[in-house]
Amino acid sequence: MGTIRGKALVTGASSGMGRETVRKLAQEGYQVIASARRKERLDELAKENQNIIPRPVDLSDAQELEKFCQELSNLAEPISVLINNAGFSIRGALEDVSLSSVRRVYEVNLFALIRVTQACLPGMRRLKGGTIVNLSSIVGKFTFPLNGVYSSTKHAVEAITDALRMEVRPFGIRVVTIRPGIIATEFNDTANQLTGDLFSRTDPDYKPVYQAYGAGMAKLFSNVSIPGPDLIADIIVKAVLSDSPKAVYFAGPFVEEIYGQRIRMDDDSFDQFMSEKTGLKGLKV
Ligand SMILES: NC(=O)c1ccc[n+]([C@@H]2O[C@H](COP(=O)([O-])OP(=O)(O)OC[C@H]3O[C@@H](n4cnc5c(N)ncnc54)[C@H](OP(=O)(O)O)[C@@H]3O)[C@@H](O)[C@H]2O)c1
Repeated sequence: MGTIRGKALVTGASSGMGRETVRKLAQEGYQVIASARRKERLDELAKENQNIIPRPVDLSDAQELEKFCQELSNLAEPISVLINNAGFSIRGALEDVSLSSVRRVYEVNLFALIRVTQACLPGMRRLKGGTIVNLSSIVGKFTFPLNGVYSSTKHAVEAITDALRMEVRPFGIRVVTIRPGIIATEFNDTANQLTGDLFSRTDPDYKPVYQAYGAGMAKLFSNVSIPGPDLIADIIVKAVLSDSPKAVYFAGPFVEEIYGQRIRMDDDSFDQFMSEKTGLKGLKV
């Protein structure tokens, strides 16, 4: 067995970008704690490389989260690379999303990210170094209609990450934001499954809104080729291995076409631009 570079933790390791990141960090010689709910997936992953340690945890369960964080705090060799990647989305007009489902998204996308980070920071301060990589999204900087809840969690991740970067730089700890565009993972299927058939449940008033949005998004996606999770995992590992990682990395569809416009346009122009892009411009009910 070669020399171990250090200990890493990847949340959301059973699928998508998290799983690819685990594989690549393990290949780079990190011992990687791979965490998610689906134990069988993690066990399968661990068979690929002896550097991978499966650790099932449900980040939305307060007790499980706390037990996990205690374990992290008590590790003999602290985590030096933390990839806060676990996350999911629900969709729907604001009137249609229950507060309990909003809370569940926040528990995983934001509160668990904060708590796991808090559990790893004392060890990183002892090491006088380490890298924290937080998965935001291009929708950490703007939003699609019917996606406000998910986007709001990523806006919060952006702010937390920006503040943390400045707070812990004095200790030699590096903090990186990743803003993927749309990536082909299980993310979309999970969102559809958790959202359910909103169209049949929504008030008739909203049906034209959902219809116009559906048509607008279909058009928006019609000529887009969607990259796989490797694209982002490669960027994450590049940032971890870099002597001086950037504050923020972007990649994927809509980075230039939409996020680029967000930077260039004033708020009203961008509102009009997004209404048009998503099929809602001029709609009256
Ligand atoms: N795909 C995209 O288009 C896209 C774009 C921008 C940003 N992102 C962000 O990138 C990150 C990774 O997403 P992905 O596309 O790779 O999605 P994915 O394939 O659906 O993976 C999500 C991961 O999160 C884990 N997870 C979900 N709920 C959890 C919970 N309660 N406790 C513990 N783990 C939980 C899942 O594992 P279990 O189900 O086994 O628990 C899974 O491993 C997310 O933060 C997402 O918001 C995705």
